[in-house]
Amino acid sequence: MDRIKNAKLKERIVSAEAAAALIAPGSTVGVSGFTSAGYPKLVPGALAKRAEAGEDLRLTVISGASVGDELDGVLARSGAVARRYPYQSNKDLRAAINDGRIAYADIHLGQLPYLVRSGVLGPVDTAVIEASAILEDGSIVPTMCVGSSDTFVQCARQVIVELNTAVPDLTGLHDIYTPALPPDTQPIPLVRPSDRIGQTAIPCDPEKICAIVLSDTPDVGGPGTAPDEVTTQIAKNLVAFLQNEQKAGRLADPLPPLQSGVGATGNAILSVLAESGMRGMDLYSEVLQSAVLDMIDSGTVAFASGCALSFTPAYQKKFYDGFETYREKIVLRPQEISNSAEVIRRLGVIAINTAIEADLSGNVNSTHIDGCRLMNGIGGSGDYARNAGLTVFVTPATAKDGALSCIVPYVSHVDHTEHDTDVIITEYGAADLRGRTAYERAELLIETCAAPAFRPQLREYMERVKKECRWHHGIPVLK
Ligand code: COA
Repeated sequence: MDRIKNAKLKERIVSAEAAAALIAPGSTVGVSGFTSAGYPKLVPGALAKRAEAGEDLRLTVISGASVGDELDGVLARSGAVARRYPYQSNKDLRAAINDGRIAYADIHLGQLPYLVRSGVLGPVDTAVIEASAILEDGSIVPTMCVGSSDTFVQCARQVIVELNTAVPDLTGLHDIYTPALPPDTQPIPLVRPSDRIGQTAIPCDPEKICAIVLSDTPDVGGPGTAPDEVTTQIAKNLVAFLQNEQKAGRLADPLPPLQSGVGATGNAILSVLAESGMRGMDLYSEVLQSAVLDMIDSGTVAFASGCALSFTPAYQKKFYDGFETYREKIVLRPQEISNSAEVIRRLGVIAINTAIEADLSGNVNSTHIDGCRLMNGIGGSGDYARNAGLTVFVTPATAKDGALSCIVPYVSHVDHTEHDTDVIITEYGAADLRGRTAYERAELLIETCAAPAFRPQLREYMERVKKECRWHHGIPVLK
Protein backbone atom coordinates (compact mmCIF):
# COMPACT_ATOMS: atom_id res chain seq x y z
CA MET A 1 0.00 0.00 0.00
CA ASP A 2 2.24 2.79 -1.30
CA ARG A 3 -0.35 5.50 -0.44
CA ILE A 4 0.72 5.09 3.23
CA LYS A 5 4.21 6.58 3.49
CA ASN A 6 4.69 5.75 7.20
CA ALA A 7 5.67 2.08 7.62
CA LYS A 8 4.39 1.84 11.21
CA LEU A 9 0.96 3.08 10.15
CA LYS A 10 0.63 0.27 7.59
CA GLU A 11 0.31 -2.07 10.59
CA ARG A 12 -2.90 -0.27 11.59
CA ILE A 13 -4.88 -1.41 8.54
CA VAL A 14 -7.99 -3.16 9.86
CA SER A 15 -11.50 -4.05 8.71
CA ALA A 16 -14.30 -1.47 8.86
CA GLU A 17 -15.89 -3.53 11.66
CA ALA A 18 -12.69 -3.47 13.74
CA ALA A 19 -12.38 0.30 13.23
CA ALA A 20 -16.03 0.91 14.11
CA ALA A 21 -15.54 -1.12 17.31
CA LEU A 22 -13.21 1.66 18.53
CA ILE A 23 -16.14 4.10 18.63
CA ALA A 24 -17.91 3.95 21.99
CA PRO A 25 -21.67 4.48 22.51
CA GLY A 26 -22.46 8.12 23.25
CA SER A 27 -19.43 9.35 21.27
CA THR A 28 -19.20 12.48 19.19
CA VAL A 29 -17.84 11.59 15.75
CA GLY A 30 -16.49 14.22 13.34
CA VAL A 31 -16.60 12.96 9.75
CA SER A 32 -15.12 14.25 6.53
CA GLY A 33 -17.58 15.00 3.76
CA PHE A 34 -19.15 17.97 2.03
CA THR A 35 -22.02 17.90 -0.50
CA SER A 36 -21.72 14.15 -1.05
CA ALA A 37 -17.98 14.35 -1.71
CA GLY A 38 -15.09 12.94 0.31
CA TYR A 39 -17.09 11.23 3.07
CA PRO A 40 -16.21 7.88 4.73
CA LYS A 41 -18.24 5.06 3.22
CA LEU A 42 -17.38 1.87 5.15
CA VAL A 43 -17.04 2.66 8.87
CA PRO A 44 -20.58 4.17 9.02
CA GLY A 45 -22.00 0.92 7.60
CA ALA A 46 -20.18 -1.06 10.28
CA LEU A 47 -21.56 1.27 12.97
CA ALA A 48 -25.06 0.82 11.55
CA LYS A 49 -24.69 -2.96 11.86
CA ARG A 50 -23.97 -2.55 15.57
CA ALA A 51 -27.10 -0.42 15.99
CA GLU A 52 -29.18 -2.91 13.98
CA ALA A 53 -27.92 -5.67 16.30
CA GLY A 54 -29.49 -3.78 19.21
CA GLU A 55 -26.64 -1.64 20.54
CA ASP A 56 -27.78 1.79 21.78
CA LEU A 57 -25.11 3.97 20.10
CA ARG A 58 -26.62 7.48 20.61
CA LEU A 59 -23.93 9.05 18.41
CA THR A 60 -23.52 12.74 17.77
CA VAL A 61 -22.37 13.08 14.15
CA ILE A 62 -20.77 16.29 12.89
CA SER A 63 -19.75 16.60 9.24
CA GLY A 64 -18.59 19.41 6.98
CA ALA A 65 -21.95 19.43 5.20
CA SER A 66 -24.19 16.87 3.45
CA VAL A 67 -22.80 13.37 2.85
CA GLY A 68 -23.87 10.31 0.85
CA ASP A 69 -26.41 7.66 1.78
CA GLU A 70 -23.61 5.29 2.89
CA LEU A 71 -23.19 7.62 5.86
CA ASP A 72 -26.31 9.66 6.66
CA GLY A 73 -28.79 7.19 5.18
CA VAL A 74 -27.49 4.01 6.82
CA LEU A 75 -26.92 5.67 10.19
CA ALA A 76 -30.37 7.32 10.24
CA ARG A 77 -32.18 4.12 9.23
CA SER A 78 -30.32 2.02 11.81
CA GLY A 79 -31.11 4.38 14.70
CA ALA A 80 -27.39 4.90 15.49
CA VAL A 81 -27.58 8.71 15.59
CA ALA A 82 -29.03 10.84 18.38
CA ARG A 83 -27.80 14.25 17.23
CA ARG A 84 -26.58 15.70 13.92
CA TYR A 85 -24.87 18.96 12.86
CA PRO A 86 -24.63 21.16 10.69
CA TYR A 87 -26.32 20.37 7.29
CA GLN A 88 -27.83 17.36 5.50
CA SER A 89 -29.72 16.45 2.36
CA ASN A 90 -30.62 12.80 2.95
CA LYS A 91 -34.31 11.92 2.79
CA ASP A 92 -34.26 9.33 5.61
CA LEU A 93 -32.22 11.57 7.90
CA ARG A 94 -34.49 14.52 7.05
CA ALA A 95 -37.56 12.41 7.93
CA ALA A 96 -36.01 11.39 11.28
CA ILE A 97 -35.16 15.04 12.05
CA ASN A 98 -38.66 16.22 11.17
CA ASP A 99 -40.25 13.39 13.19
CA GLY A 100 -38.18 14.39 16.22
CA ARG A 101 -36.22 11.10 16.32
CA ILE A 102 -32.86 12.81 15.65
CA ALA A 103 -31.94 16.16 17.21
CA TYR A 104 -30.57 18.65 14.70
CA ALA A 105 -29.28 22.21 14.89
CA ASP A 106 -28.82 24.22 11.72
CA ILE A 107 -25.44 26.02 11.72
CA HIS A 108 -23.67 28.36 9.28
CA LEU A 109 -21.03 26.15 7.65
CA GLY A 110 -18.36 28.83 7.94
CA GLN A 111 -18.91 29.02 11.69
CA LEU A 112 -18.98 25.30 12.45
CA PRO A 113 -15.20 24.72 12.81
CA TYR A 114 -14.92 27.62 15.25
CA LEU A 115 -17.76 26.19 17.34
CA VAL A 116 -16.05 22.79 17.36
CA ARG A 117 -12.57 24.08 18.22
CA SER A 118 -13.88 26.36 20.94
CA GLY A 119 -15.70 23.42 22.54
CA VAL A 120 -19.24 24.79 22.17
CA LEU A 121 -20.46 21.53 20.60
CA GLY A 122 -18.62 19.37 23.15
CA PRO A 123 -15.45 17.31 22.73
CA VAL A 124 -14.89 15.30 19.53
CA ASP A 125 -14.04 11.71 20.45
CA THR A 126 -13.27 10.28 17.02
CA ALA A 127 -12.56 11.76 13.60
CA VAL A 128 -13.33 9.51 10.63
CA ILE A 129 -11.64 10.99 7.58
CA GLU A 130 -11.52 9.81 3.97
CA ALA A 131 -7.99 10.18 2.57
CA SER A 132 -6.19 9.71 -0.72
CA ALA A 133 -2.78 9.32 0.99
CA ILE A 134 -1.11 9.39 4.41
CA LEU A 135 2.33 10.99 4.60
CA GLU A 136 5.40 9.93 6.59
CA ASP A 137 4.63 12.40 9.41
CA GLY A 138 1.01 11.21 9.67
CA SER A 139 -0.43 14.13 7.66
CA ILE A 140 -3.60 13.22 5.82
CA VAL A 141 -4.15 14.10 2.15
CA PRO A 142 -7.93 14.40 1.77
CA THR A 143 -10.00 13.22 -1.20
CA MET A 144 -12.65 15.39 -2.87
CA CYS A 145 -13.32 17.79 0.00
CA VAL A 146 -11.68 19.45 2.97
CA GLY A 147 -14.83 20.50 4.85
CA SER A 148 -14.04 20.58 8.57
CA SER A 149 -11.60 17.66 8.50
CA ASP A 150 -8.66 19.79 9.68
CA THR A 151 -10.63 20.82 12.76
CA PHE A 152 -11.92 17.31 13.49
CA VAL A 153 -8.39 15.86 13.25
CA GLN A 154 -7.01 18.61 15.48
CA CYS A 155 -9.71 18.15 18.15
CA ALA A 156 -10.35 14.39 18.12
CA ARG A 157 -8.87 12.01 20.67
CA GLN A 158 -8.40 9.37 17.93
CA VAL A 159 -8.51 9.37 14.13
CA ILE A 160 -9.78 6.62 11.84
CA VAL A 161 -8.70 7.01 8.20
CA GLU A 162 -10.60 5.50 5.27
CA LEU A 163 -8.01 5.36 2.51
CA ASN A 164 -9.94 5.42 -0.75
CA THR A 165 -8.17 4.04 -3.81
CA ALA A 166 -11.16 4.81 -6.08
CA VAL A 167 -9.64 8.31 -5.97
CA PRO A 168 -6.07 8.96 -7.20
CA ASP A 169 -3.50 10.45 -4.83
CA LEU A 170 -4.70 14.07 -4.82
CA THR A 171 -1.60 15.61 -3.25
CA GLY A 172 -1.35 19.27 -4.25
CA LEU A 173 -5.09 19.91 -4.60
CA HIS A 174 -5.71 21.09 -1.04
CA ASP A 175 -4.63 24.16 0.90
CA ILE A 176 -4.98 23.57 4.64
CA TYR A 177 -5.01 26.67 6.82
CA THR A 178 -6.66 26.50 10.23
CA PRO A 179 -7.02 29.85 12.05
CA ALA A 180 -6.05 30.13 15.71
CA LEU A 181 -8.77 30.81 18.25
CA PRO A 182 -9.17 34.37 19.61
CA PRO A 183 -7.27 36.24 20.96
CA ASP A 184 -4.50 34.79 18.74
CA THR A 185 -6.42 34.92 15.44
CA GLN A 186 -4.53 36.60 12.61
CA PRO A 187 -5.92 38.11 9.39
CA ILE A 188 -6.36 35.35 6.78
CA PRO A 189 -3.64 36.22 4.20
CA LEU A 190 -5.75 35.44 1.15
CA VAL A 191 -6.29 38.25 -1.35
CA ARG A 192 -6.94 36.30 -4.56
CA PRO A 193 -8.90 33.04 -5.02
CA SER A 194 -5.73 31.38 -6.39
CA ASP A 195 -3.56 32.22 -3.35
CA ARG A 196 -2.18 29.25 -1.42
CA ILE A 197 -1.70 30.06 2.24
CA GLY A 198 -1.38 26.69 4.00
CA GLN A 199 -0.19 23.12 3.73
CA THR A 200 -1.08 20.43 1.19
CA ALA A 201 -2.14 17.91 3.86
CA ILE A 202 -3.92 17.96 7.23
CA PRO A 203 -1.33 17.81 10.02
CA CYS A 204 -1.88 14.74 12.23
CA ASP A 205 0.19 13.11 14.94
CA PRO A 206 0.64 9.52 13.66
CA GLU A 207 0.00 8.25 17.19
CA LYS A 208 -3.56 9.59 16.92
CA ILE A 209 -4.32 7.37 13.90
CA CYS A 210 -5.84 4.33 15.59
CA ALA A 211 -7.07 2.51 12.48
CA ILE A 212 -6.85 2.64 8.69
CA VAL A 213 -9.60 1.08 6.57
CA LEU A 214 -9.03 0.46 2.87
CA SER A 215 -11.88 1.52 0.61
CA ASP A 216 -12.53 1.71 -3.13
CA THR A 217 -16.06 3.13 -3.23
CA PRO A 218 -16.59 6.29 -5.31
CA ASP A 219 -18.52 9.35 -4.13
CA VAL A 220 -22.22 9.57 -4.89
CA GLY A 221 -21.39 13.04 -6.19
CA GLY A 222 -23.52 15.96 -7.27
CA PRO A 223 -26.33 16.53 -9.78
CA GLY A 224 -25.86 16.26 -13.54
CA THR A 225 -25.21 19.16 -15.85
CA ALA A 226 -28.40 19.12 -17.95
CA PRO A 227 -30.56 22.08 -16.85
CA ASP A 228 -34.34 22.11 -17.49
CA GLU A 229 -36.33 24.91 -19.13
CA VAL A 230 -37.05 26.84 -15.92
CA THR A 231 -33.54 26.66 -14.44
CA THR A 232 -32.09 27.61 -17.85
CA GLN A 233 -34.31 30.69 -18.02
CA ILE A 234 -33.37 31.65 -14.43
CA ALA A 235 -29.71 31.30 -15.38
CA LYS A 236 -30.21 33.37 -18.56
CA ASN A 237 -31.89 36.14 -16.53
CA LEU A 238 -28.96 36.09 -14.12
CA VAL A 239 -26.36 36.29 -16.89
CA ALA A 240 -28.29 39.15 -18.56
CA PHE A 241 -28.41 40.97 -15.21
CA LEU A 242 -24.67 40.55 -14.64
CA GLN A 243 -23.81 41.66 -18.18
CA ASN A 244 -26.01 44.72 -17.78
CA GLU A 245 -24.24 45.59 -14.52
CA GLN A 246 -20.93 45.31 -16.37
CA LYS A 247 -22.16 47.60 -19.15
CA ALA A 248 -23.29 50.15 -16.57
CA GLY A 249 -19.85 50.02 -14.94
CA ARG A 250 -21.15 48.65 -11.64
CA LEU A 251 -19.38 45.31 -12.08
CA ALA A 252 -15.87 44.68 -13.37
CA ASP A 253 -14.95 42.61 -16.45
CA PRO A 254 -13.91 39.85 -15.77
CA LEU A 255 -16.53 39.55 -13.02
CA PRO A 256 -15.54 39.54 -9.34
CA PRO A 257 -15.19 35.99 -7.95
CA LEU A 258 -18.43 34.08 -8.11
CA GLN A 259 -20.02 31.73 -5.58
CA SER A 260 -22.73 29.40 -6.76
CA GLY A 261 -24.87 27.29 -4.44
CA VAL A 262 -25.84 23.64 -4.24
CA GLY A 263 -28.44 21.84 -6.30
CA ALA A 264 -29.76 21.67 -9.80
CA THR A 265 -30.30 25.43 -10.18
CA GLY A 266 -26.75 26.20 -9.08
CA ASN A 267 -25.35 23.76 -11.60
CA ALA A 268 -27.63 25.11 -14.36
CA ILE A 269 -26.34 28.62 -13.69
CA LEU A 270 -22.78 27.45 -14.19
CA SER A 271 -23.73 25.64 -17.40
CA VAL A 272 -25.33 28.79 -18.86
CA LEU A 273 -22.39 30.94 -17.75
CA ALA A 274 -20.07 28.48 -19.51
CA GLU A 275 -21.85 29.27 -22.78
CA SER A 276 -22.28 33.01 -22.16
CA GLY A 277 -19.08 34.17 -23.83
CA MET A 278 -17.85 35.61 -20.51
CA ARG A 279 -14.19 34.81 -19.93
CA GLY A 280 -11.53 34.77 -17.25
CA MET A 281 -13.59 34.93 -14.05
CA ASP A 282 -12.56 33.25 -10.83
CA LEU A 283 -14.81 31.20 -8.56
CA TYR A 284 -14.63 31.63 -4.79
CA SER A 285 -17.22 29.14 -3.69
CA GLU A 286 -17.78 26.29 -1.26
CA VAL A 287 -19.11 23.54 -3.49
CA LEU A 288 -17.75 23.23 -7.02
CA GLN A 289 -20.12 21.27 -9.25
CA SER A 290 -19.51 19.38 -12.49
CA ALA A 291 -20.05 22.35 -14.81
CA VAL A 292 -16.96 23.99 -13.29
CA LEU A 293 -14.73 21.63 -15.29
CA ASP A 294 -16.41 22.72 -18.54
CA MET A 295 -15.97 26.35 -17.50
CA ILE A 296 -12.27 25.79 -16.91
CA ASP A 297 -11.93 23.94 -20.23
CA SER A 298 -13.66 26.78 -22.12
CA GLY A 299 -11.69 29.55 -20.39
CA THR A 300 -14.84 30.97 -18.75
CA VAL A 301 -13.18 30.29 -15.41
CA ALA A 302 -9.52 31.10 -14.84
CA PHE A 303 -9.31 29.66 -11.32
CA ALA A 304 -11.71 27.92 -8.93
CA SER A 305 -11.36 27.95 -5.15
CA GLY A 306 -13.76 25.72 -3.22
CA CYS A 307 -14.16 23.37 -0.33
CA ALA A 308 -15.50 20.31 -2.18
CA LEU A 309 -15.75 18.85 -5.67
CA SER A 310 -19.28 17.51 -5.99
CA PHE A 311 -19.02 15.88 -9.40
CA THR A 312 -21.15 13.30 -11.18
CA PRO A 313 -19.34 9.97 -11.78
CA ALA A 314 -18.53 11.02 -15.38
CA TYR A 315 -17.02 14.30 -14.18
CA GLN A 316 -15.13 12.53 -11.38
CA LYS A 317 -13.43 10.48 -14.11
CA LYS A 318 -12.77 13.57 -16.24
CA PHE A 319 -11.18 15.24 -13.20
CA TYR A 320 -9.03 12.24 -12.24
CA ASP A 321 -7.87 11.76 -15.85
CA GLY A 322 -6.92 15.44 -16.13
CA PHE A 323 -5.74 15.89 -12.54
CA GLU A 324 -2.27 17.20 -13.36
CA THR A 325 -3.82 20.06 -15.40
CA TYR A 326 -6.82 20.75 -13.16
CA ARG A 327 -4.59 20.88 -10.05
CA GLU A 328 -3.12 24.13 -11.42
CA LYS A 329 -6.60 25.69 -11.64
CA ILE A 330 -8.47 24.35 -8.61
CA VAL A 331 -7.80 24.52 -4.88
CA LEU A 332 -9.84 23.00 -2.02
CA ARG A 333 -9.80 24.75 1.37
CA PRO A 334 -11.35 24.17 4.80
CA GLN A 335 -14.92 25.48 4.94
CA GLU A 336 -13.81 27.99 7.55
CA ILE A 337 -11.75 29.65 4.79
CA SER A 338 -14.00 29.06 1.75
CA ASN A 339 -16.88 30.53 3.78
CA SER A 340 -14.92 33.12 5.73
CA ALA A 341 -16.78 36.40 6.17
CA GLU A 342 -13.46 38.23 6.06
CA VAL A 343 -12.34 36.74 2.72
CA ILE A 344 -15.77 36.89 1.05
CA ARG A 345 -16.02 40.59 1.92
CA ARG A 346 -12.45 41.31 0.81
CA LEU A 347 -12.93 39.64 -2.58
CA GLY A 348 -16.32 41.30 -3.23
CA VAL A 349 -17.79 37.91 -4.12
CA ILE A 350 -20.99 37.64 -6.18
CA ALA A 351 -23.05 35.14 -4.18
CA ILE A 352 -25.76 33.17 -5.95
CA ASN A 353 -27.90 30.86 -3.83
CA THR A 354 -31.31 29.24 -4.15
CA ALA A 355 -34.35 30.24 -2.13
CA ILE A 356 -37.32 28.08 -1.23
CA GLU A 357 -39.40 31.27 -1.12
CA ALA A 358 -38.92 35.04 -0.93
CA ASP A 359 -41.36 37.59 0.44
CA LEU A 360 -42.46 41.03 -0.67
CA SER A 361 -39.92 42.67 1.67
CA GLY A 362 -37.09 40.57 0.22
CA ASN A 363 -36.67 38.19 3.17
CA VAL A 364 -35.62 34.73 2.03
CA ASN A 365 -36.43 31.27 3.35
CA SER A 366 -33.82 28.69 2.28
CA THR A 367 -34.48 25.95 4.77
CA HIS A 368 -38.05 25.22 5.85
CA ILE A 369 -41.33 24.17 4.24
CA ASP A 370 -44.32 25.79 6.01
CA GLY A 371 -41.95 27.12 8.66
CA CYS A 372 -41.71 23.81 10.49
CA ARG A 373 -40.34 21.15 8.11
CA LEU A 374 -36.59 21.20 7.49
CA MET A 375 -35.43 20.74 3.90
CA ASN A 376 -31.59 20.69 4.02
CA GLY A 377 -30.28 23.52 6.18
CA ILE A 378 -28.79 26.99 5.75
CA GLY A 379 -25.46 25.57 4.57
CA GLY A 380 -23.12 28.30 3.42
CA SER A 381 -25.83 30.57 2.03
CA GLY A 382 -25.79 32.83 5.11
CA ASP A 383 -21.99 33.06 5.16
CA TYR A 384 -22.06 34.39 1.60
CA ALA A 385 -25.32 36.34 1.60
CA ARG A 386 -24.35 38.54 4.53
CA ASN A 387 -20.79 39.25 3.36
CA ALA A 388 -20.80 39.24 -0.45
CA GLY A 389 -20.33 42.29 -2.65
CA LEU A 390 -23.52 41.33 -4.49
CA THR A 391 -26.05 38.87 -3.06
CA VAL A 392 -28.40 37.13 -5.46
CA PHE A 393 -31.11 34.61 -4.65
CA VAL A 394 -32.66 32.56 -7.43
CA THR A 395 -35.83 30.49 -7.29
CA PRO A 396 -38.41 29.12 -9.69
CA ALA A 397 -41.47 31.41 -9.43
CA THR A 398 -43.67 28.46 -8.41
CA ALA A 399 -43.34 25.10 -6.68
CA LYS A 400 -45.36 21.88 -6.76
CA ASP A 401 -46.27 22.03 -10.46
CA GLY A 402 -47.38 25.64 -10.28
CA ALA A 403 -49.68 25.17 -7.26
CA LEU A 404 -47.61 27.38 -4.92
CA SER A 405 -46.06 30.79 -5.46
CA CYS A 406 -42.44 31.13 -4.31
CA ILE A 407 -42.99 34.90 -4.06
CA VAL A 408 -45.24 35.30 -1.02
CA PRO A 409 -46.47 38.17 1.19
CA TYR A 410 -44.24 36.99 4.05
CA VAL A 411 -41.97 33.95 4.35
CA SER A 412 -42.80 31.16 6.81
CA HIS A 413 -39.18 31.11 8.07
CA VAL A 414 -36.46 33.74 7.72
CA ASP A 415 -32.89 32.71 6.89
CA HIS A 416 -31.74 35.86 5.09
CA THR A 417 -33.25 39.19 5.97
CA GLU A 418 -34.22 41.85 3.44
CA HIS A 419 -30.98 43.65 4.34
CA ASP A 420 -28.89 40.83 2.87
CA THR A 421 -30.80 40.17 -0.35
CA ASP A 422 -29.76 42.46 -3.19
CA VAL A 423 -31.31 40.77 -6.19
CA ILE A 424 -34.02 38.11 -6.56
CA ILE A 425 -34.31 36.23 -9.84
CA THR A 426 -36.93 33.83 -11.18
CA GLU A 427 -37.61 32.58 -14.69
CA TYR A 428 -39.71 35.75 -15.24
CA GLY A 429 -37.00 38.28 -14.46
CA ALA A 430 -34.54 39.88 -12.06
CA ALA A 431 -35.61 42.30 -9.30
CA ASP A 432 -32.75 44.54 -8.19
CA LEU A 433 -33.85 45.54 -4.69
CA ARG A 434 -30.84 47.68 -3.82
CA GLY A 435 -31.72 51.16 -2.69
CA ARG A 436 -35.48 50.58 -3.03
CA THR A 437 -38.13 51.44 -0.46
CA ALA A 438 -40.33 48.73 1.03
CA TYR A 439 -43.20 49.45 -1.37
CA GLU A 440 -40.87 49.70 -4.40
CA ARG A 441 -39.35 46.33 -3.52
CA ALA A 442 -42.76 44.70 -3.22
CA GLU A 443 -43.91 46.12 -6.54
CA LEU A 444 -40.72 45.02 -8.32
CA LEU A 445 -40.99 41.51 -6.93
CA ILE A 446 -44.62 41.19 -7.97
CA GLU A 447 -44.26 42.64 -11.46
CA THR A 448 -40.83 41.13 -12.28
CA CYS A 449 -40.45 37.84 -10.40
CA ALA A 450 -43.86 36.43 -9.45
CA ALA A 451 -45.63 34.04 -11.81
CA PRO A 452 -48.36 35.94 -13.73
CA ALA A 453 -51.06 33.67 -12.24
CA PHE A 454 -50.19 34.82 -8.70
CA ARG A 455 -49.71 38.53 -9.43
CA PRO A 456 -53.39 39.55 -8.84
CA GLN A 457 -53.37 38.03 -5.33
CA LEU A 458 -50.07 39.68 -4.46
CA ARG A 459 -51.26 43.06 -5.82
CA GLU A 460 -54.41 42.70 -3.74
CA TYR A 461 -52.27 42.10 -0.66
CA MET A 462 -50.34 45.30 -1.33
CA GLU A 463 -53.59 47.22 -1.86
CA ARG A 464 -54.75 46.06 1.59
CA VAL A 465 -51.39 47.01 3.12
CA LYS A 466 -51.70 50.53 1.74
CA LYS A 467 -55.32 50.83 2.90
CA GLU A 468 -55.14 49.18 6.31
CA CYS A 469 -51.72 50.27 7.52
CA ARG A 470 -51.29 53.86 8.64
CA TRP A 471 -47.48 53.74 8.35
CA HIS A 472 -45.48 53.35 5.18
CA HIS A 473 -42.24 51.73 6.17
CA GLY A 474 -42.56 47.97 5.75
CA ILE A 475 -44.91 45.20 4.69
CA PRO A 476 -46.88 44.01 7.73
CA VAL A 477 -48.40 40.58 8.24
CA LEU A 478 -52.13 41.07 7.63
CA LYS A 479 -54.77 38.66 8.93
N1 COA B 1 -43.13 25.72 -1.01
C1 COA B 1 -43.16 24.39 -0.77
N2 COA B 1 -42.22 23.52 -1.23
C2 COA B 1 -41.23 24.05 -1.97
C3 COA B 1 -41.14 25.42 -2.27
C4 COA B 1 -42.15 26.27 -1.76
N3 COA B 1 -42.13 27.57 -2.01
N4 COA B 1 -40.04 25.63 -3.02
C5 COA B 1 -39.44 24.45 -3.19
N5 COA B 1 -40.17 23.49 -2.56
C6 COA B 1 -39.85 22.07 -2.49
C7 COA B 1 -39.74 21.45 -3.89
O1 COA B 1 -41.02 21.10 -4.38
C8 COA B 1 -38.89 20.24 -3.59
O2 COA B 1 -39.70 19.27 -2.96
P1 COA B 1 -39.49 17.69 -3.18
O3 COA B 1 -38.17 17.39 -2.55
O4 COA B 1 -40.65 17.10 -2.47
O5 COA B 1 -39.49 17.52 -4.66
C9 COA B 1 -37.91 20.78 -2.55
O6 COA B 1 -38.54 21.92 -1.95
C10 COA B 1 -36.55 21.22 -3.10
O7 COA B 1 -36.80 22.09 -4.16
P2 COA B 1 -35.99 22.00 -5.54
O8 COA B 1 -36.71 22.88 -6.53
O9 COA B 1 -35.74 20.59 -5.90
O10 COA B 1 -34.72 22.79 -5.14
P3 COA B 1 -33.16 22.67 -5.22
O11 COA B 1 -32.61 21.30 -5.41
O12 COA B 1 -32.71 23.71 -6.17
O13 COA B 1 -32.79 23.12 -3.72
C11 COA B 1 -32.84 24.44 -1.72
C12 COA B 1 -33.28 24.32 -3.20
C13 COA B 1 -33.22 25.84 -1.25
C14 COA B 1 -33.54 23.39 -0.88
C15 COA B 1 -31.28 24.22 -1.68
O14 COA B 1 -30.66 25.14 -2.55
C16 COA B 1 -30.73 24.42 -0.29
O15 COA B 1 -30.71 23.48 0.50
N6 COA B 1 -30.30 25.65 0.04
C17 COA B 1 -29.78 25.97 1.36
C18 COA B 1 -28.31 25.76 1.43
C19 COA B 1 -27.57 26.67 0.50
O16 COA B 1 -28.11 27.59 -0.07
N7 COA B 1 -26.30 26.46 0.36
C20 COA B 1 -25.56 27.34 -0.52
C21 COA B 1 -24.16 27.32 -0.35
S1 COA B 1 -23.55 25.91 -1.31
